Amino acid sequence: MLPADFIESSPYKSNIFVGKVVFVTGGAGTICKDQTEALVRLGANGAIVGRKKEVTEKAAKELEALRPGARVLGLGEIDVRDIQSLKRAVDTTISELGRIDYVIAGAAGNFVTDINHMSANAFKTVIDIDLLGSFNTAKATFEALRASAGSLVFISATAHYHGSPFTAHVGAAKAGIDALMQALAVELGPLGIRVNCIAPGFIAATEGMDRLLPPDMQKTYTRLTPLQRFGTTLDIANATVWLFSEAASYVSGTVIVVDGAGWHSAQQTSTLHYYPDMLKHMGEDKSKI
Ligand code: COA
Repeated sequence: MLPADFIESSPYKSNIFVGKVVFVTGGAGTICKDQTEALVRLGANGAIVGRKKEVTEKAAKELEALRPGARVLGLGEIDVRDIQSLKRAVDTTISELGRIDYVIAGAAGNFVTDINHMSANAFKTVIDIDLLGSFNTAKATFEALRASAGSLVFISATAHYHGSPFTAHVGAAKAGIDALMQALAVELGPLGIRVNCIAPGFIAATEGMDRLLPPDMQKTYTRLTPLQRFGTTLDIANATVWLFSEAASYVSGTVIVVDGAGWHSAQQTSTLHYYPDMLKHMGEDKSKI
């Protein structure tokens, strides 16, 4: 949830997205739900898609309640790895809401493990959800974006800017997403479609943070973040609003890093102070294939 006074304290006009429709994968997740909330509260309707039916439908109802007259579809049992299921979600969105102007490709999978304990299927699973899922989202929404001369945002990361141990699968997937974004920005620019990435740093109170950074390490990481705090979902929501707004009408083919300058500092490499001792975690047990 964004702060209750989001509209009053927002630098954006409250009606900038009236008549627009946003399509969001992973839309029931903490970050993507708040990105959607910002757009809905600023006038948009939307569709959020996810694997879990009940969770997705509940999140959509909560979002719809935030603005009188808002419409938010909650489309469950949609897996971004399955292009046909995504296409069905897009078709439903067009038939119910008429159009798609903005797309957020936010569905992601993540866990921390070393190569010894990461099976080929584990690596493939994250590549399939993050990278193939981002491609599938762009592919399934392409016709709609061409019709609206819309805008697409992929959710990337900063972990692959340095060699980050134990997240080889995610780093490879997110580097691929950055490359996908660059290629599509060039291909789709002449159609008036803008394509960008948002790369969040550590965002407080998210599943990703809980998975990647144990509580005892969070204090150290805050100190090593130049802006001296973790990001919030509001920070990501505000960057999203800006990217979709007219204020960013000449911005395409770029990665907006929202991380308090964390990746420029020792924050990202601080784990490596424990290097190479940390690699003992890999163990000498038989490798999981
Ligand atoms: N360490 C090592 N391997 C792991 C793992 C972990 N913590 N979690 C899952 N895997 C492996 C599984 O063992 C399996 O490999 P195997 O068949 O060789 O045993 C493979 O990954 C796929 O796991 P599965 O549970 O079948 O995949 P799924 O499609 O149901 O779930 C995940 C996908 C694994 C990414 C799951 O964590 C998920 O659904 N995450 C979504 C939410 C999320 O990650 N949010 C974070 C955003 S930052």
